[in-house]
Amino acid sequence: MTMVCLNDFEEYARQHLSKATWDYYEAGADDCCTRDDNLQAYKRIRMRPRILRDVSINDTRTSVLGMEISFPVGIAPTAFHCLAWHEGELATARATETVNTCYIASTYSTCSVEEIAAAAPNGYRWFQLYLYRDRKLSEQIVRRVEALGYKALVLTVDVPYTGKRRNDIRNQFKLPPHLMVKNFERMFQEQAGSQEEYGIPANTLDPSISWKDVCWLQSLSRLPIIIKGILTKEDAELAVEHGVQGIIVSNHGGRQLDGVPATIDCLPEIMDAVQGRVEVYMDGGIRTGNDVLKAIALGAKCVFIGRPAIWGLAYKGEEGVREILQILHDEFRLSMALSGCRNVAEINRNLIQFSRL
Ligand code: FNR
Ligand code: LAC
Repeated sequence: MTMVCLNDFEEYARQHLSKATWDYYEAGADDCCTRDDNLQAYKRIRMRPRILRDVSINDTRTSVLGMEISFPVGIAPTAFHCLAWHEGELATARATETVNTCYIASTYSTCSVEEIAAAAPNGYRWFQLYLYRDRKLSEQIVRRVEALGYKALVLTVDVPYTGKRRNDIRNQFKLPPHLMVKNFERMFQEQAGSQEEYGIPANTLDPSISWKDVCWLQSLSRLPIIIKGILTKEDAELAVEHGVQGIIVSNHGGRQLDGVPATIDCLPEIMDAVQGRVEVYMDGGIRTGNDVLKAIALGAKCVFIGRPAIWGLAYKGEEGVREILQILHDEFRLSMALSGCRNVAEINRNLIQFSRL
């Protein structure tokens, strides 16, 4: 089978994963309007290419938080990679190390942060964090990732409670007994038998989380803090005022509040509010190099892919994730050239036909 585009990997994963696993990865909340709109929104955007600009050499490199990466696409934090491939997050970490881009490891990884760091010692990594009712648990994991050389904390703020994913309820989704949220191995034993939600006891996440906790996190760690899950200019402004180093415009792949806009449609208002004071990234619905080009043109410093990395894992583990990134890289380079952009700095709002937005 020749894998030409990311959709080919999606089809492979759909056919080869168990139904409950596929349903979990594919899930959006409620009617899945936002999940689907994340993709559709890119297809509505039209571009204004420039011509005769000598695009014989295209430089796709950029930087995030001062670190150079090979192109502006990284891996978003997603849970349970071992469900897709036996080596799980170790394979993801190795692939991103080879490609030289950024991997945001999820709290809900099926390998520990130590194992991930050991698998790809030279990889560029951030760690995605939730805040738990038991702050000691959050504190302990922050200390671990800081010591291991993870370069930023990505605080996900759109999950005070988990969104309602209908198929997970129908399937009674549960991790198989040989897998676990490895970062918390043996930490929840006294609660054994209590109700579990996505591998940890229900009610572990703290729904009372607020901006005060961002300050608490800053007092705890010197690592840059990136807030993941901002969709409005009001919250972008608050994030800047609270001194965070970055924002990820994200609706959790449409898995949380259904009916919010596609992330690419939120990006312009957030760029206008932030005015370059912090780096702005985005995720949701990136499936082609063309999508990447549009997101960068609208101001994102870098985009992150969620589900496509899992499809790559399901296809061929490390090699599959590498292929996904390689295809996106090649497509992005081609779209850059066809639009007359020789380097990432030349990609800007003039490339977008705003009259149609
Ligand atoms: C996620 N996402 C997510 N986000 C996060 O901060 N921590 C997590 O553990 C997870 N887990 C997770 C599992 C699965 C199966 C999916 C699909 C998503 C959200 C993720 O980081 C990202 O926001 C979206 O996946 C981006 O959308 P696309 O690329 O999947 O369309
Ligand atoms: C999810 C949680 C684990 O989206 O973040 O599945």
